[in-house]
Amino acid sequence: MPDSENKRVSSGLPRLDKMLGGGFIPNSSILLRGAPGTGKTTLGLHYLIEGARQGEAGLFISFEEFPQSLYRDAAGLGWDLPALEAEGKLRLLFTSPNVLRQSLATPDSGVLKSLHDHDIKRVVLDSMTHFTQVIDEVHELRRVYHQIISAFHREHVTAVYLGEEMRSDYTTEEKGRLPFIVDCVVILRYLEIDSAIQRAIVVLKMRSSAHDTAIHGYTIGQGGITISGPLEGKSGLLSGLARRSMISTVVE
Ligand SMILES: Nc1ncnc2c1ncn2[C@@H]1O[C@H](COP(=O)(O)OP(=O)(O)O)[C@@H](O)[C@H]1O
Ligand SMILES: [Mg+2]
Repeated sequence: MPDSENKRVSSGLPRLDKMLGGGFIPNSSILLRGAPGTGKTTLGLHYLIEGARQGEAGLFISFEEFPQSLYRDAAGLGWDLPALEAEGKLRLLFTSPNVLRQSLATPDSGVLKSLHDHDIKRVVLDSMTHFTQVIDEVHELRRVYHQIISAFHREHVTAVYLGEEMRSDYTTEEKGRLPFIVDCVVILRYLEIDSAIQRAIVVLKMRSSAHDTAIHGYTIGQGGITISGPLEGKSGLLSGLARRSMISTVVE
């Protein structure tokens, strides 16, 4: 029997769920990759807010932002994070890569205890790229990625790992082969189309499931991310060499 939609974990964006063939696979690992400002943190919050709506508690782990700037950014999108925390539907953890690593490797540590005590089903880690700043050696990086992903897998959460994509550290992250380790890869991109910058989202990989391979446009505003239909009539979008395809030229 194919996965029915109700067995999947909603990303919080109905259109993305459709692209994923119904949503994320329960207890899987998802890499959400994109350049700074593409909307990774925003999508991560969508995912946790949807969990809160469905009665599934979520944990947002940040190596990056201070609580106040995250609260402020979320408020700008229309989300009241302190209210969700007060209701016990969301937990925010501001820590460092090394402390998290140690904590996940230690039974009864604060993080593991928090997952159990609050019955957390959804985790967002912002961001996996920070491990490349504290670990130089490629094999060690790969080992740590495995360690983190396995720890959350064991705890039966569905984990979304954010990854910064920058030309300067692209190769470093590739060296850790993170896209090979996770079950699902979603990419956020800026695209230059017809002399304007647009935002695009695509599901690049989805283990053990069919998925939509089309590149979709999206916008960010009040209420967060809104995904539109596939960007049609263009070719070479992700290679950065977008141009009108022959078909659309003929149609026009
Ligand atoms: N209230 C808002 N209205 C419109 N755009 C917003 C709003 N809040 C944030 N953005 C846009 O969202 C993007 C930041 O998203 P964010 O999730 O922080 O990106 P990332 O985590 O990938 O760096 C920025 O490009 C910003 O312009
Ligand atoms: Mg961010």
